[in-house]
Amino acid sequence: MITFDFKTYRNNIINDAEIVVYEAKLKGISSYFEAHQNMMGWAKLKQLTNLELISDIVKTSSYIRNNCDVFLVVGIGGSYLGSLAVIEALNPYFYNNTRRPEIYYVGNSLSSEYIIELKELIKSKNIIVNYISKSGKTFETDLAYKLIFELMQEKYTIEEIKTRIIFTTGEVKAVGEGYKNFEIPANVGGRFSVFTPVGLLPIAVAGINIEDLLRGAIDSQKTTSYQMRYAIIRDIMSNKEKQVEAFVAYEPKLTAFIEWLKQLYAESLGKDEKGLLPIGVINTRDLHSVGQYFQAGSKILFETVFNVTEVKKDIMIDRYQKSLNEINNIASTATSMAHYKVNVLNNIINLDKLDAYNMGYLLQFFMISCAISGYLEGVNAFNQDGVEEYKKIMRDLIDR
Ligand code: PA5
Repeated sequence: MITFDFKTYRNNIINDAEIVVYEAKLKGISSYFEAHQNMMGWAKLKQLTNLELISDIVKTSSYIRNNCDVFLVVGIGGSYLGSLAVIEALNPYFYNNTRRPEIYYVGNSLSSEYIIELKELIKSKNIIVNYISKSGKTFETDLAYKLIFELMQEKYTIEEIKTRIIFTTGEVKAVGEGYKNFEIPANVGGRFSVFTPVGLLPIAVAGINIEDLLRGAIDSQKTTSYQMRYAIIRDIMSNKEKQVEAFVAYEPKLTAFIEWLKQLYAESLGKDEKGLLPIGVINTRDLHSVGQYFQAGSKILFETVFNVTEVKKDIMIDRYQKSLNEINNIASTATSMAHYKVNVLNNIINLDKLDAYNMGYLLQFFMISCAISGYLEGVNAFNQDGVEEYKKIMRDLIDR
């Protein structure tokens, strides 16, 4: 179960007159959704995740689990962050030391050392690769894929390679004969694709129950009142000259989830010289760094905080007669109280536990709320023209 506590905003920032204005404004949301139907396939979860597809994903994931030591996810942006968010949140911290297959991500940077060390690490192991790209022409993904393919050629015959590479692509990508291919629907963009094979296949390979994940996602759509409320708060914050939203977690397992949120919000809403800059904070680590700024620096930010009430493993700290997780949650409450005193407000989201259902719920919750924010901000939440400019310049520089 997930509870949303947005009270501080109601008490301090949002007055009833403002709510009435937003309620009237939000009546126009359906025409925004209508206008962007061609990119809203992710909101029709039942259509997106039909039984045939789910059983293919589950079957393919068991094939992968039974036939490799290492599963490599090759992709960047929306093509990897969703699965990483769920896998990190739900699996043990030292997953790759204890479970099979080990899962590694590649193609999300241009670090030569990363690729070389990864190839060294996996060269004597059995590998299965999942190439994930909707466009099929992303620079980092293609480069990493070529380098990994060279390694595959040293280890396997071409017939074997065909059983060890799985493509997850938009229809534009011509996949060679004999390869397994999952299609990314045209009406689902990268950062909204976690509930397509982009996210679901790696998540299933990691041993996570994707049906539970989807149940959470579907349930989160039963009502949209909290998604709307959250979008309203963000809009009001923005109108009150806030420039930064800090996503804060007290469980380091949520680091990749916060990266996913940063991408979702920055790429969807950072447009037309508008939008809040999303940043990620992991506490209590960052209370010993940016915590100073939050308490005493410029008042340009507000926070959205994730707490986990119960964890799978906890330790009793005799000295305080409290468990370590209780103490972690006390640190969260204390920090919110300290920030509240200086008018740095917190949205609090409490998860009773980290499980597939709750993660599915949260991911879909934020995708819907982000789309509502797109409407309130007056921007198209589903394109990302802003990421093209550096690519053109980089190509020119490389070709020189
Ligand atoms: O959200 C998006 O659309 C982007 O972040 C893409 O996922 C990212 O650029 C990767 O694109 P592709 O899947 O085409 O390789």
